[in-house]
Amino acid sequence: MEEIQFRSIMEQYDQQKVLDIFDSRDEKDKERLLKQCDFLDFSFLSALQNHDGKRGEITPIRTMKLPEIEKREEEFRNIGTEALKAGKVAALVLAGGMGTRLGSNHAKGMYDIGMTKPVYIFQRMFENMLDVVNETGAQIPLFIMTSIINDKETKEFLYEHKCFGYDPKQVHFFVQDMSPCIDIEGNIMFSKPDEFAMSPNGNGGFYSSMMNAGLDEFCRESGIEYINVFAIDNVLQRIADPVFIGATIDSGCATGAKVVKKVDPGEKVGSICLEDGQPSVVEYYDMTDELLQAKDEDGEPAYDYGVILNYLFRLKEMDGIVRNEMPVHIVKKKVPYLAESDTSETGFVTVYPDKPNAFKLETLSLDFVRMMGSCLPFEVIREKEFAPIKNPMGVDSVESARKLLIAAGYEL
Ligand code: UTP
Repeated sequence: MEEIQFRSIMEQYDQQKVLDIFDSRDEKDKERLLKQCDFLDFSFLSALQNHDGKRGEITPIRTMKLPEIEKREEEFRNIGTEALKAGKVAALVLAGGMGTRLGSNHAKGMYDIGMTKPVYIFQRMFENMLDVVNETGAQIPLFIMTSIINDKETKEFLYEHKCFGYDPKQVHFFVQDMSPCIDIEGNIMFSKPDEFAMSPNGNGGFYSSMMNAGLDEFCRESGIEYINVFAIDNVLQRIADPVFIGATIDSGCATGAKVVKKVDPGEKVGSICLEDGQPSVVEYYDMTDELLQAKDEDGEPAYDYGVILNYLFRLKEMDGIVRNEMPVHIVKKKVPYLAESDTSETGFVTVYPDKPNAFKLETLSLDFVRMMGSCLPFEVIREKEFAPIKNPMGVDSVESARKLLIAAGYEL
C-alpha cells in the first residue's frame, strides 16, 4: 500500500496514535508495515464507529425435528444424493481460525486426538467425507479456507498425508483476509516494531475471500449450486449429508442449518430464531431471561435448538451479498502486543497477556443465515453429530470429543 493511502485510512478511522508510532519508525520498518497493509482489511474498523449492538425482535422459528426427518428420510436422501451426483454440491471447511483456546501453535486440523494411534482432526474430516463419497458414488469438491498464518503448513500437512485418501483433484485451497487487532482504547496494536497485530477476519470472511480467489466463478462454471460450510473442529459431524441437503432443497429455503437440542437453555451455542421476522441466530450471551423461559406453540422451550456451524448455502443468493453488508462483531480476546522496554536491545518486547486484553474484529458465517432470507433449521442427533473441540480439557474439548467418538464406535 502507498504511504499516502495508509495515512488517509488512518485519518478516516481516527488512528492518530498509530500514525505517530509509524512516523517514529525507520524506513525499513515503515516499508514492512505498508506491505502488510496489502492484506489487512481496515474497513472492519468502521464497526468501532458504528457499533450499537442492538438486536431486532427475537421470535421462535419452526425447526424440522427428528421424528419428521425420520419419516421422510428416504425421500430427502434421494433428493440429496441426486444433487451430489449431479455435482451441484461442494463442501467448504472453515480452517483459518487461530485455535487460541486449544493452545496449539499449528492449524487446528493438524491436531492429533488419537490415543493409541494418530488421529488428526483433518483425518476425521476427510474420513467423514469419504463415507458420503463411498455411499453416493459422487465426487464432492472441497474448498479449504486457511489464513496466511496457517496456509503453508496446512498444504504441506495434507500433501504429506495424501489428503487421507480423498481425491486431491477435488481439493481447492483459498486464504482468508486479515483484520487489525484493536486495544481497549480503539487503537490498532503492533505485535513487532514492523508488524501490526492482526488476526483472521472471522469465519464469515469465507465468501468474499472465495470471490477474491475466483472460486465463485469456478462454482458457476462447474455447475455447483450449494455449498456446505462447516467448522474444522467438530470431529463427529456428517459433511455433505444427503439427507440434510435433500431436506433443504425440498424446503425451497436458501439456507439450511444443522441444529442440536441444547443440553440446557444456557449452553454456549447460538440459538436459531427469527429476528424481525428473518431467520437468525441469537448468541448465548444475548439470551435474556425472557428468551430463556419462552415457550413455542407446542409448549416446548422456544429457543432450544443450537447451531453447530454446519450450513448449506444456495450460491444464487450469496452472490447478491457483498462483503460490506456483513456485520462486524467485536470479540474480546488475548492478543500479544508490543511494549517499550529499557532492558531489551531493540527497546521493545512482545508481551503475551494471560487474559483478554484486546478486540478482534470478525464477520461470522451465521450472519449469512439472516442475510439470505430463508432457512430450514434441521435437527441432528447430538451424540452422532456434535463433538466440537475448542479446549484441551473440559467442555467442548479434546477430552469430551474423544469420549463421544469412542461412544460412536470410532477407534482412537
Ligand atoms: P472459533 O470461533 O471457535 O475459533 O471457530 P477458533 O479459531 O477455532 O478458536 P479460538 O476462538 O481462537 O479458540 C469456529 C470455526 O471457524 C473457523 C475455525 O477454524 C473453526 O473451524 N474460523 C474462525 C476461520 O476459518 N476463520 C476465522 O477467522 C475464525
